[in-house]
Amino acid sequence: MKYTDEFLQEVKDRNDILDVVDSYVPLKKKGNNYWGLCPFHNEKTPSFSVYPPKQIFHCFGCGEGGDVITFVMKYENASYPEAIRILAERAGIQIVEKEDNGEDRARRARSDVIKQINSDAAAFYMNNLRSVHGEKGLKYFKDRGLTDETIAHFALGYSGTGGREVVEYLRSKGHSDEMIIAAGIATNSENHGMSSPFFSRVMFPIINLDKKVIGFGGRVLGDGEPKYLNTKETEVFDKRRNLYGYNFAKRSRKRYYILCEGYMDVISMHQAGFDSAIASLGTAFTEEQAAMIKRDRVDVYLAYDMDEAGEKAAARAVNILAKVGITPKRISISPCKDPDEFITKNGVEQFQKRLDNAENGFLYIEDRVRDRYDLSDPEERYKCQKEIVENLWMFAGDEVKMSSYAASISERYGYPKSEISKLLEETRPREYKKAEAGPVTRAYTPPKKSSGREKSSYLPAESSLLTWLTDEPEIYKVVKKYLKADDFSPGPCRAVAEKTFELLEEGNFSVDALFDGLEDEGVKSEATGLLQNSAPEIDTAEKRMEMLKDLIVKVMERKCEMMSSSDDSEKDLKIFNLRLEIDKLKSGKLNLSEEE
Ligand code: UTP
Ligand code: MN
Repeated sequence: MKYTDEFLQEVKDRNDILDVVDSYVPLKKKGNNYWGLCPFHNEKTPSFSVYPPKQIFHCFGCGEGGDVITFVMKYENASYPEAIRILAERAGIQIVEKEDNGEDRARRARSDVIKQINSDAAAFYMNNLRSVHGEKGLKYFKDRGLTDETIAHFALGYSGTGGREVVEYLRSKGHSDEMIIAAGIATNSENHGMSSPFFSRVMFPIINLDKKVIGFGGRVLGDGEPKYLNTKETEVFDKRRNLYGYNFAKRSRKRYYILCEGYMDVISMHQAGFDSAIASLGTAFTEEQAAMIKRDRVDVYLAYDMDEAGEKAAARAVNILAKVGITPKRISISPCKDPDEFITKNGVEQFQKRLDNAENGFLYIEDRVRDRYDLSDPEERYKCQKEIVENLWMFAGDEVKMSSYAASISERYGYPKSEISKLLEETRPREYKKAEAGPVTRAYTPPKKSSGREKSSYLPAESSLLTWLTDEPEIYKVVKKYLKADDFSPGPCRAVAEKTFELLEEGNFSVDALFDGLEDEGVKSEATGLLQNSAPEIDTAEKRMEMLKDLIVKVMERKCEMMSSSDDSEKDLKIFNLRLEIDKLKSGKLNLSEEE
């Protein structure tokens, strides 16, 4: 989906960042900035700042930053097009899309048809469920305790007993056999012609975040194989990147998701009010799904079946979630088989209790490790300790977290702390060897955020000067007599200076052009902080120029410092000349003349 430039500009123009952010986060004015508690990390004192002159925000605590669109993307967890849509709706602007190229258009047209076929099929299945042919299906759902409301909420249906009715129905809606096959609703064979693999099943439509049906799970009535049949992968159905119930969970505004194994678990959780329950789609939980959850900044509870398969799946999910830095908690539903049974038998309050008492997912895995060993045997006991400690290295990711877990394990299993520390040293993986540059995460490698996200160092004077320059481009003609972009501290500061100088030189400077020109996301975030360090308001022009001189001198002095640690053979002479220039400037005035 692409938007025209004019439209994007209008969306930005009509959504002042201060108004937008203020509607999510209370802000207070201090100087030229507005401050509040950062919505992107936990804090008690405000380090989140909005700077209206440039229409940017930056958190000096966690480093997040950007413009009004970035803010909405981060806050609402929205994709770029979604954020644009939210802002356009907010400002009452009609959405204008650019024409795609032919290939994109063809692909999108196919996807739209496939989704339409799925949605027509879902309607057919829903109708079936309510008709005389669907009595069996409806009875099945009722017997499992679902209300009419829940059945409608999840758009549940019944396939019918043959595989041909749905094909006939879809044809009558004008769909071609080719596309019905592409949607995964039917296959064509010489012997049987067009027919659907979904028959004599209750149907669970799988709905994406755009509220479109992208596939189905179908459960056989009674005993039969397979118990659940799922739509094969199609152009619109990627099992690795979707979750059952996610369309509701994401909008639930709960601070946690409950990850279950099956469709029925999710549905009965939602019916009981736990509307942030989700499940993977007939496959094991995937890394892609973990990454989706990570972006939502929520806690995760695992409510897997209590059987051996469920235990295994839960252990696997703990490890996958650890890779993205989430430590899930595990809800025990014993003595029931699965969460569906638990909630049906014991009700909401009991489930809430289990949720409140959910245990740490890592410790749960280690309990399972212990169950495998005969702890009365000293050799086995040693092996068990060692395995747990090795898992700890994999899992913890950083040493502080590690020592906290080591303490819990020592207490939980009665292993002396000293033994654990020794084992930790013995099993220390290469990535964590001391002499190297700090611990390297093994289990969890954070998304590559670029150099910009590391703590970069620059002078407040550099930041003030760049802020000033970008607020009032007229001062460039003075600044450029003394400074070049590479006189600024290396890293994001210099990257911003380079782009700014380049645009000013071309006479094309605008804050938007600057941010568009910064390609690295990390540098962009950092720039939003760098560029809101405005000078105190000064009344006279003379004082302003004094202040500007002062800033320029500071940056020049910093340059001297940088040079003295370089290995340039002529650095002494260069430093000498630079010092002369600095002294001259210090004792005189800025050269404000027009000529070079
Ligand atoms: P379960 O067999 O635990 O499903 O499989 P369930 O939801 O508890 O089933 P019933 O209806 O209450 O008896 C858990 C999940 O694994 C997938 C499905 O997504 C199911 O919801 N599954 C299971 C399949 O994809 N195919 C199968 O044959 C079995
Ligand atoms: Mn189950």
